[in-house]
Amino acid sequence: MKAIILLGPPGAGKGTIAERLRSGAGYIHVSTGDMLREAIKSGTPSGMEADVFMKRGDLVPDSIIISIVEDRLSGFDSDASLMFDGFPRTLKQADMLGGMLSRKGAVLKRVFFLDAPDDLLVSRLCGRRICRSCGVNYHVRNVPPKKTGICDVCGGELYQRADDHEDTIKNRLEVYKRQTSDLIKRYEADGVLLRVDSSRDVNEVVGDMMDDLGICRCCG
Ligand code: AP5
Repeated sequence: MKAIILLGPPGAGKGTIAERLRSGAGYIHVSTGDMLREAIKSGTPSGMEADVFMKRGDLVPDSIIISIVEDRLSGFDSDASLMFDGFPRTLKQADMLGGMLSRKGAVLKRVFFLDAPDDLLVSRLCGRRICRSCGVNYHVRNVPPKKTGICDVCGGELYQRADDHEDTIKNRLEVYKRQTSDLIKRYEADGVLLRVDSSRDVNEVVGDMMDDLGICRCCG
């Protein structure tokens, strides 16, 4: 088993890049944000508890995160290539992941630290719209759908995430700086961190990451 981590502030492009690396390079996408939204939709007790924190833009308690990640990872076999998006976000979560990987004899190959200026992050998130049916991402100005509010791909309804409003976005950025940026120092000291300027065109960003992972840009 091998693993990579996509680390970075809200709106850095973790989900967008993960989708490209999943389809182009066969990495399994493990997103704690997606798992929590799924738990909220299904009305599970963890989902209901997490919802309160997510609506404010605060981190969900480590105990909930560690339990959903352990559940998700128990099913993977030893040759899986895992890509963590939005996890870990605290030193405690990083310790849990490190322990889990070493028990499975797995290697943490790379931590990509995706970064972009705050004003760009805020404008990306304020304008983001997502298809309720197929999950494709749009942006009201940068990537608008042909018909307002309707997905080009499947005709589904587009919605704005509950935490994609300006005040909550600002809190998410504060929380990231306070609680998650310590991980940069941790992984830098471990010699696995690579800084990536994710304010650039997404094709350039993904191309650089594929080069670093030794994956062919054309055929994966
Ligand atoms: P989560 O769902 O992980 O959200 P996030 O980290 O805030 O990140 P986003 O999904 O908003 O942004 P992204 O970096 O994926 O950017 P994207 O590719 O979508 O977490 C949500 C909440 O869940 C947290 O606040 C917390 O409460 C809780 N949570 C989750 N994990 C947790 C954990 N481990 N511990 C505790 N709590 C946890 O891109 C954004 C927009 O920009 C899109 O519209 C996209 O099209 C556009 N875009 C992306 N890249 C580019 C580019 N290069 N050029 C132009 N546009 C771009």
